[in-house]
Amino acid sequence: LKSRYLEAIGNAGDEAALEELRVAAIGKKGEVSLKMRELGRMSPEERQVAGPALNALKDELNAALAAKKAALADAALDARLKTEWLDITLPGRAGGRAGGSVHPISQVTEEITAIFADMGFAVAEGPQIETDWYNFDALNIPPHHPARQEFDTFYMHRAEGDNRPPHVLRTHTSPVQIRSMEKQGAPIRVIAPGRVYRSDYDQTHTPMFHQVEGLAIDKGISMANLKWTLEEFCRAFFEVDQVELRFRASHFPFTEPSAEVDLRCSWEGGQLKVGEGDDWMEILGSGMVHPKVLQAAGVDPEEYQGFAFGLGIDRLAMLKYGIPDLRAFFDSDLRWLRHYGFAA
Ligand code: PHE
Repeated sequence: LKSRYLEAIGNAGDEAALEELRVAAIGKKGEVSLKMRELGRMSPEERQVAGPALNALKDELNAALAAKKAALADAALDARLKTEWLDITLPGRAGGRAGGSVHPISQVTEEITAIFADMGFAVAEGPQIETDWYNFDALNIPPHHPARQEFDTFYMHRAEGDNRPPHVLRTHTSPVQIRSMEKQGAPIRVIAPGRVYRSDYDQTHTPMFHQVEGLAIDKGISMANLKWTLEEFCRAFFEVDQVELRFRASHFPFTEPSAEVDLRCSWEGGQLKVGEGDDWMEILGSGMVHPKVLQAAGVDPEEYQGFAFGLGIDRLAMLKYGIPDLRAFFDSDLRWLRHYGFAA
C-alpha cells in the first residue's frame, strides 16, 4: 500500500492528480482511513502494533504529498520564467507610443505667470474648495446679495444637522486676494492662477475654467497703474507692439470703481488678429479694491489702496491659438490636441 502510493505520488503530473491520490489514500473514505477505522475491531495487542504503523504511514503520505506539491509549483514557476521573460535592454520601438505634452491651458498659465513675474508679481495660491466667507462675505458680498445668484455657485453638501454655511467650489480666484493680504499684509503684488467653478456650459463657458487673479496694493496706486499693467501684459502675451484695451464701466461688489476690459481684435476666416479690427473680446474684470475688502483682510484703507483684476485664462488661450470652442480644451481628444500642435 505504502510503496504503491509513494510511487503514484512521485509520478503525479499536476495538482489535480495529487489531490485525487490524497482523497484515495487519506481522504474520509480513503484506503488508509478505512484501515484506521478497523483498529476498533482488533485485539489490544494487534492494535498496539497496527495503530502507530498506520499513523506513521499517514504522516509519510502527507509529507510526500506536500513535497510533490512544492516541486510541481517550482516546476511551474520555472516554466513561466522560461517563456515570460522580457529583455529590458532592448531599445524602444520608434513610432510607438507618443510622449505626453503640456496641456495648452497649463502652457498659457505658465506664459502668463512669467510675464507678471517680470513685472514683480509673486504667485499666490488658495484652495479650490472655499468657505463662503472667503468666496463671498470678505469680498463685500453678504449672504443675500444678488451677486451670489449671478455666480451659479456649486455648493458642497453638509451632513444633516450641520448648520454651518456650506463650503463652495470657488467661483473666482478673488478669495486669494483676501488670503494673501491676511498672510502678507501691504504693500503686496501677487497673481493667483487657478481653477474656478460655475454651473455654466456652452461654447465659451465650461463648469470648470481658469482665472488669474491680480492684486497690487501700495500707497498711491491708481487706475492708471492698472491700465498700464494690463496693456503691458497684453503686448507681451500676444507678442504685438500695439494693443488697444477698452475699459467698460461695470460693477463688482469688491471693486470701486469697476471695469470690464475688452481687447480689440479681428476674426477673419478663423484667423485672429490682436490690436486691429472691429471686434472686442472681453478678457477680464477689474477695478480699485473696495475699502471694505481691504478692511476684511486686515489692511487699512486710509493708508493703502490698489487694483485687482481677474483674467480668464481659457479665453486668452482661445484667442492666442484661434480656438473657437472652449469645451474642446477639456475633451482630451488627441486628434484635437495634435491639430492645434499641442501633442506629437
Ligand atoms: N472675480 C471677478 C469675476 O470672476 C473678476 C474680478 C477680479 C473683478 C478682480 C474685479 C477684480 O468675475
